[in-house]
Amino acid sequence: MKRIIEHTDDGSATLYVPEMNEHYHSVKGARTESQHIFIDMGLKHVQTAQPHVLEIGFGTGLNAYLTLLAANETGKKVHYTGLELYPLEWDMIAELNYSDDPLFKQIHTAAWEEEVEISPNFTLQKKKTDFTTIHKENHPHRYDVVYFDAFAPEKQPEMWEQQLFNHIYSITNSGGVLTTYCAKGSIRRMLQAAGFVVERLPGPPGGKREILRGSNVPLQSI
Ligand SMILES: C[S@@+](CC[C@H](N)C(=O)[O-])C[C@H]1O[C@@H](n2cnc3c(N)ncnc32)[C@H](O)[C@@H]1O
Repeated sequence: MKRIIEHTDDGSATLYVPEMNEHYHSVKGARTESQHIFIDMGLKHVQTAQPHVLEIGFGTGLNAYLTLLAANETGKKVHYTGLELYPLEWDMIAELNYSDDPLFKQIHTAAWEEEVEISPNFTLQKKKTDFTTIHKENHPHRYDVVYFDAFAPEKQPEMWEQQLFNHIYSITNSGGVLTTYCAKGSIRRMLQAAGFVVERLPGPPGGKREILRGSNVPLQSI
């Protein structure tokens, strides 16, 4: 699949996939979007000191790197699992110019499938797997934060299926959250049907009006 580097409104780069007419991030600001939706509304929202994060669509590793920075900043010890069916070559990622930080490169050169300590606060496991078969996999633990960052439902509807959201809910800890840039009513209702209590939150500065956060709320607090 061909991918073209493009610059977004906040100056950070993203990838465009002509075949799908789809971008990896918001053209209104790739880094701004990732920081807001996944780090600020997701990771920083949960109380857990040692959160397990699950990312659907590891892609350029931007969300993973911003998570590492947030882990260092907050003192949280993050265990990060990134699922990706089509890993990108380092040469293409390097051209995005996200960071000169050697830890960013380590995120990308780390072996797939293995748990690798990138820094004392950030352990990474990249898994080359098809998310649409996640319900057939065993999970060694539950997750506290899910970054749902698949391509849009219009472009890849098979990633946004009810049974997949049901499964994600079943592997989310009580008190855990899922965040996504997609605020469509149909997706909100699927998250609710799966068991999440869903909030519509303001989108990133200059970007989408609303985003979604689903919470696995302990029953006694509803
Ligand atoms: C919107 S992009 C993710 C952007 C990424 N989070 C980042 O920060 O660069 C969607 C990602 O989902 C991946 N993907 C597509 N189909 C998949 C599948 N069936 N299973 C797992 N990942 C898939 C794509 O290759 C792409 O990297």
